[in-house]
Amino acid sequence: MNNEGYDIAMIGLGTMGRNLVLNMGDKGFSVSGFDREIDKVNMLKDESGQRNILPVRSVEELVKSLKKPRLVMMLVPAGAPVDAVISDVLPYLEKGDVIIDGGNSHFTDTDRRVTELAKKEMNFLGVGISGGEKGARFGPSIMPGGSKEGYESVRKIFEAVAAKVEDKPCVAYMGPGSAGHYVKMVHNGIEYAVIQLIAETYHLLKQGFNLDEDELHDIFSKWNSQKDLQSYLIEITSRIFIQNDEQTKKRLINLIKDSAKQKGTGKWTSQDAMDLQVPVPTIDSAVMMRDLSVYKNEREEVKNKVSGPDGKNIKLGKDEFIKKLGNALYFGMVTSYAQGMMLLKSASKQYKYDIQLDTVASIWRGGCIIRAGMLSQICSAFKNNNELNNLLLDDYFAQELSRRQSDVRDVIKTAIDAGIPVAAMMASLSYYDGYRSKWLPANLIQAQRDYFGSHTYERIDREGVFHTQWNEEE
Ligand code: 6PG
Repeated sequence: MNNEGYDIAMIGLGTMGRNLVLNMGDKGFSVSGFDREIDKVNMLKDESGQRNILPVRSVEELVKSLKKPRLVMMLVPAGAPVDAVISDVLPYLEKGDVIIDGGNSHFTDTDRRVTELAKKEMNFLGVGISGGEKGARFGPSIMPGGSKEGYESVRKIFEAVAAKVEDKPCVAYMGPGSAGHYVKMVHNGIEYAVIQLIAETYHLLKQGFNLDEDELHDIFSKWNSQKDLQSYLIEITSRIFIQNDEQTKKRLINLIKDSAKQKGTGKWTSQDAMDLQVPVPTIDSAVMMRDLSVYKNEREEVKNKVSGPDGKNIKLGKDEFIKKLGNALYFGMVTSYAQGMMLLKSASKQYKYDIQLDTVASIWRGGCIIRAGMLSQICSAFKNNNELNNLLLDDYFAQELSRRQSDVRDVIKTAIDAGIPVAAMMASLSYYDGYRSKWLPANLIQAQRDYFGSHTYERIDREGVFHTQWNEEE
């Protein structure tokens, strides 16, 4: 076999990398693959079948296998491994070649890499890929950013392997620099928020009503069949409840430790939102609750020290409560997307990405973890008005949220009485109430800052900034 003229190369043959290679192979592209671990190279060899796939044993061999301009993609852990791959591959590349990072890199690292490689007249792409292992194999959502010229070289391949919704591929150029990785980071922030909202509904149903896994499965399946709530995360939640543990044959969910891990992309979203001064409270509270869950031992200890309701004091009837809960979940989801989109809008301006929000919503409709029926309406909202500052200002969503807000209040009041934490739901409602408040008590905050630190304040009756010698004593 001729080992030259391959369309694209992949470095990093973990499950994601191998699955994406197989996906590319299925679509008729020729792909060479390399990993430092020989076992993984061999696994690719075993899995490649009739596809035009070339597993190789060195970076040099990998680059030599490619036609020009060479497309070298990597799927390796974020951070130092990405820089290591770039320095391994650089000596064999030439001007105009394209390096593609398909991992969850921090966007500031991607900016640095784009700039450094542009100096060498090399094209670098920071590409967000969502959909997990299955997505990589059968159609992910792809969020490319960086060199436009580089994107044009790889566009056909990405369009072929991406998920399709209404025959349209879930991939589009997001913008220059780190735009692609930024969009993926915000995707993950929304992912954290929706996961936390779902967890809170589970908490209320399990502890408040003592529902078993079959009943939970039924509720989530029904929600997933509703037009407003249909989403991948609700769908998998319904399936999780009825999965049995292979060994014990018990429901697996009840054997999993209640302490959640994270790789940090949700936290990055909150961090950058704070830097840009864009409120994303549902995402923040999702990060906070994951962090709190890790303090398992302290939680056991605190339980015996402080008192409060035991999670069982629910006065509403079950059916009525479930209906309200579905509405609260929808409300939380919409406000999470609203926060994420507002952050993207601000970041796009600040970092000069020129991100089109309707395009983002459109490529999130399929393949990715936060795919949901409501993304079609989110896409329309931004298509109808590309100046839209927030989904709460869109007529459709304003109406849908208004219709549900009193149910959200009932659910939260119930949770408070029962002593069940619903941080993400409360954050969503406070965001909604804060955003719709013509007046907020920030005048007092200004006064306090001026009182203790002479930080000055603005007035409603006169232009300018003011300072007052505040009375120290009554
Ligand atoms: C995706 C996922 C993917 C990964 C997350 C998990 O879109 O396919 O978001 O990127 O599963 O990084 O993130 P945590 O480990 O932080 O939960």
